Formats: sequence, C-alpha cells, structure tokens
Amino acid sequence: MVKICCIGAGYVGGPTMAVIALKCPEIEVAVVDISVSRITAWNSDALPIYEPGLDEVVKKCRGKNLFFSTDVEKHVSEADIVFVSVNTPTKTQGLGAGKAADLTYWESAARMIADVSKSNKIVVEKSTVPVKTAEAIEKILNHNSKGIDFQILSNPEFLAEGTAIQDLFNPDRVLIGGRETPEGQKAIEALRDVYAHWVPVERIICTNLWSAELSKLAANAFLAQRISSVNAMSALCEATGADVSQVSHAVGKDTRIGPKFLNASVGFGGSCFQKDILNLVYICECNGLPEVANYWKQVIKINDYQKTRFVNRIVSSMFNTVSGKKIAILGFAFKKDTGDTRETPAIDVCKGLLGDKARLSIYDPQVNEEQIQRDLAMNKFDWDHPVHLQPLSPTSIKQVNVVWDAYAATKDAHGVCILTEWDEFKTLDYQRIYDNMRKPAFIFDGRNVVDETKLRAIGFIVYSIGKPLDQWLRDMPAVA
Ligand code: NAI
Repeated sequence: MVKICCIGAGYVGGPTMAVIALKCPEIEVAVVDISVSRITAWNSDALPIYEPGLDEVVKKCRGKNLFFSTDVEKHVSEADIVFVSVNTPTKTQGLGAGKAADLTYWESAARMIADVSKSNKIVVEKSTVPVKTAEAIEKILNHNSKGIDFQILSNPEFLAEGTAIQDLFNPDRVLIGGRETPEGQKAIEALRDVYAHWVPVERIICTNLWSAELSKLAANAFLAQRISSVNAMSALCEATGADVSQVSHAVGKDTRIGPKFLNASVGFGGSCFQKDILNLVYICECNGLPEVANYWKQVIKINDYQKTRFVNRIVSSMFNTVSGKKIAILGFAFKKDTGDTRETPAIDVCKGLLGDKARLSIYDPQVNEEQIQRDLAMNKFDWDHPVHLQPLSPTSIKQVNVVWDAYAATKDAHGVCILTEWDEFKTLDYQRIYDNMRKPAFIFDGRNVVDETKLRAIGFIVYSIGKPLDQWLRDMPAVA
C-alpha cells in the first residue's frame, strides 16, 4: 500500500488530500499539522474550513484511508510520498520584506523530513513557492540524507476556494514538474499514477521543476491581471457612461479573450493573488528585470486604487463625511462560498470607512465576530503569520458591530455596502431594508449583485461598480 502524508492541513492540504483518499481507496493518506485546533476540527463534525461538498468527501473516507493527526514525524517517516502544503506568506521583516515569500515554514518542514526519514521519499511542493525553491529544498534534504534518496517534485495546486471540491474532481490540468533524470522521471510517474485514478492523462502535464514552479505564479498573475484590467475599465465606464457589464460581455465574446473572470468588483482578495504577484515582482527584481517587475506591480496598484476609489465614492456621495453614520457591510469573506477572509477587500474598505469615523454593522453568513475583529485589528501582511494570531485583547474595535442577519445590519443604516457576492444578497427584501433605513438611503454595490433599476424604483441611491451613475453621484464626484 502506498502511503501519502501531507504536511499542512489548511485550505489546500485538507481538501486535496480528502479527494485523493476518496479517489484512491488503496492509498492511505495522513494529513498532519502542528496546529492542534485545526487537527481537532478536521476530526470533528465542524470542519475548520467551509467549502461546498467537503463534508461529504471527508465523511466518506475519514477513519478508513484518510487520517488527520498532529503526530507529524510518525506519519512523515512512514510515507512514500510527502506533500508539503504549508503557508508561504509574504515576508514582514528583513531582506525582501513586503514582497518576498517567507519560506520559514517550508524550510522547517524540509528539515524535519530530512531528520525523521528512514526510507526513500518523493517530496512534493504543493505550496506556492518562488521559482528555484526546489533547488534549496534539495540541498536541505540531501545535506542530511544519511544515504536516503529524496526526489523533489513541484505539483502546484490550482483549486479556487469556494469551488475547491469541484475543481479537484475535475481539474483543468494537473501540473507535475520534476528533475530530467531517470529517477526524477520515475518520481513524476509515481505521482501521475495517483492523479490518473480520476484525472484523464491528457490533462496531466509534466514539465521540468522550474516551469512547474513558475507556472503557478504566472497563472495567478494572469488571473489577477484580468481583474485589474476590467476594474481599470470600470473607472473609465463611470466617467463616460459606458456600462462595464456590457463592455465585459462584448470583450469576452472574442474567443481569444473568453468570458470568464471578467467581472468588475471592489477588488480581488484571497491569500494568494497579492502575495504571489509580490513574490513574482521580487523574483524579477532579483533577476535584474525591473521593467517586468514594474509591469506586474501595476496589477496590485490598480487593485489598491479600486478599493480606495470605492471608499472615496461612499464618503463623497454621503455629503463628504460618514462620521458617526451607520454603514451596513454585507459580506466580509473575500468571495462567496468561503469563510476565508485573508486579504479580503472588505478589510481595506472597512478600515477606510473607520478612518472616516463611520460606525459599521457587518454581516457575513460564514464569518464570525472574532475573525472580523481580528482582521480589522491586524497589520497588513501579518494575517498569515501564526505568531500574530493571538486571541484578541478587549481592544476590539468599538465602532464595529457584527450581526447574524442582513436586516439587523441594515436597520437604521445610512448606507449599505455589498462587499461579497453571496447569492442571498440578490434576493433580500430590499423594500423592507429601505423602509428601515435613514434617508436618503444609499447602496454601494461592490460586486454588482443587485438590480439597480429595481432598487432605484424603491428609492435608493445606487452605486454599482462601473455602471452609469445616478444624477446624485454625478453631482458629488469622488476624488480617487
Ligand atoms: P493555510 O494557512 O490554510 O494552511 C497551512 C497549514 O500549514 C497551517 O494549518 C499551518 O499550521 C501548517 N503548518 C505550517 N508549518 C508547518 C509545519 N512545519 N509542520 C506542520 N504543519 C505546518 O494555507 P493554505 O491556504 O492551505 O495554503 C497553503 C499553500 O498553498 C500556500 O503556499 C498557498 O499559496 C498555496 N495555495 C493556496 C490556495 C488557496 O486557495 N488557499 C490555492 C493554491 C495554492
């Protein structure tokens, strides 16, 4: 029996291994983590992450061929294939701070693998890492190897949160990079055999190590660039009377461009896009390519601009001040169908409004008060460094109130901001919301989920990203 161990039971490690266990009943899969609370949650009925379809997959395999454990060393030493899916956040200090990937967690995992291994192993980079990381990992493993053969593979993960299980069941592609030696090719084959249980072979792409590592950074940069491109257009749409949805539709009909991922919004978020682009920028700079670095930097600048523009629009349209006004925030997760708030644009928007002394009443169907208060109290880039994740002191932000219902959030509010595209926000009773709000009642739709015509007929002043502006908003231009 092949034994797989995955170090890191997070958003990637947990779902990915659960699907491997489901599709490969003869393989034993252990997911290990240093976080006791995470492992306890994986072994309970309340899994540590919300992901549609995940519960069913875990329930089918847990205790049969899928195990969650904190006994990291035991499972690593017994495994034939070790996936490393630890967090690789942006460095906060020292060389490359604010840009480079922090490989502390990766390095300590590699050192531990080297220490506890007694048999040959395939070590798989599942985390997103800078191109050439495998070279450093090889050095760590082989330096301590006691004659053990370690083969390193790069197998970046392309799942998207919110659709992780669907993406894992039916991936566009699986990418495996390895050394171009007979041993490296044998390792690639071993991993390909695992995926071939359910992924058609033509979708399993095999490359050299560096192409696989770089492809993940490149894919995220391209995806984020599409969002920044359409968001840049949204600003021009508002200035000219064009409608960004119509522009996206027309542009996306070109088969060379395609219709997906062209929705204008308040900005992209999530744990990956920003950190991976910053990482790419840093690698370009280190390789003497400042023009390339600057090109990709713009993707992040436009994203920051979009968030600032949104806050400015809110403040300027509400008579240039939101001080003391209640603003309802609908949605805090970085996208629908996840409870993940890492790098969510909601943090920047809320901080912007709090900076103007607004009172916020926040509702998200999957994010609790502790998480929201913590996110709003945290410094940029600190979110993925566990050392900072101490329980909150009583200094939680007083201007912020978290509620479990959109109607409670919007009651007596001066304005409503929609920051996550949860389906339920499309079907709220907006007449009821309007009746219970202060007048004039504003809606700022950062995800283009509401029907502006219907809301205007009720009496709202509506701002939707990239859509033709109400007369009111034209009369009160925002300064970006
Ligand atoms: P995460 O933060 O949810 O999970 C990482 C886990 O690793 C944590 O539970 C942490 O306690 C554990 N860990 C850290 N050091 C450890 C060690 N030495 N031994 C044992 N456990 C350790 O992170 P997530 O979101 O799962 O991301 C993991 C990697 O996958 C990152 O490199 C990320 O860029 C990449 N990725 C993430 C995607 C996403 O949608 N979240 C998608 C594709 C790739």
